[in-house]
Amino acid sequence: MQEKTINIRYKEYESVLELGQSDRLLLEKAIRAASGAYAPYSHFNVGAAVRLENGEIFTSANQENAAFPSGLCAERSALFYAQSQYPDIPVAALAVAAVTDGKVTPEPTYPCGACRQVLQESQERGNKPIRVIIGSAGRIIVTESVADLLPFAFDNLPRQ
Ligand code: THU
Repeated sequence: MQEKTINIRYKEYESVLELGQSDRLLLEKAIRAASGAYAPYSHFNVGAAVRLENGEIFTSANQENAAFPSGLCAERSALFYAQSQYPDIPVAALAVAAVTDGKVTPEPTYPCGACRQVLQESQERGNKPIRVIIGSAGRIIVTESVADLLPFAFDNLPRQ
């Protein structure tokens, strides 16, 4: 038996003011997109913004449903939409943030497990690391690859 450790890397910024311009723009778009949420059950409005390698940005928000599992998170909604428009362009970055009671949450809104899995396959598909920017009213977490968000990812993509 060997005990092993996996390290993940991330950057923590104190506020949006510390971010580089393109991360800041993407996060601001994600925050604005949260206003499009349909969240009558959780009242947790999440916005996501996806930037593709060609510079195009797509935003979306969580969409809930009375049959709870039928709803969809902001991140998957934005990713699926972006990749439906440009199936052959890799995803470069995704930003996410949530708004409750009209304010950005005080703690970062980390993508759920299912969204991490979808991000992971987007990354494999594009063959480029996806930068993930996770916002809050305070600190902002940035990972340079989905591998840092989802170690031991399930990956079953057929390879030539
Ligand atoms: N949600 C997202 O859209 N993204 C996340 O990263 C976390 C959770 C949504 C799902 C549901 O509509 C609401 O937030 C509460 O869980």
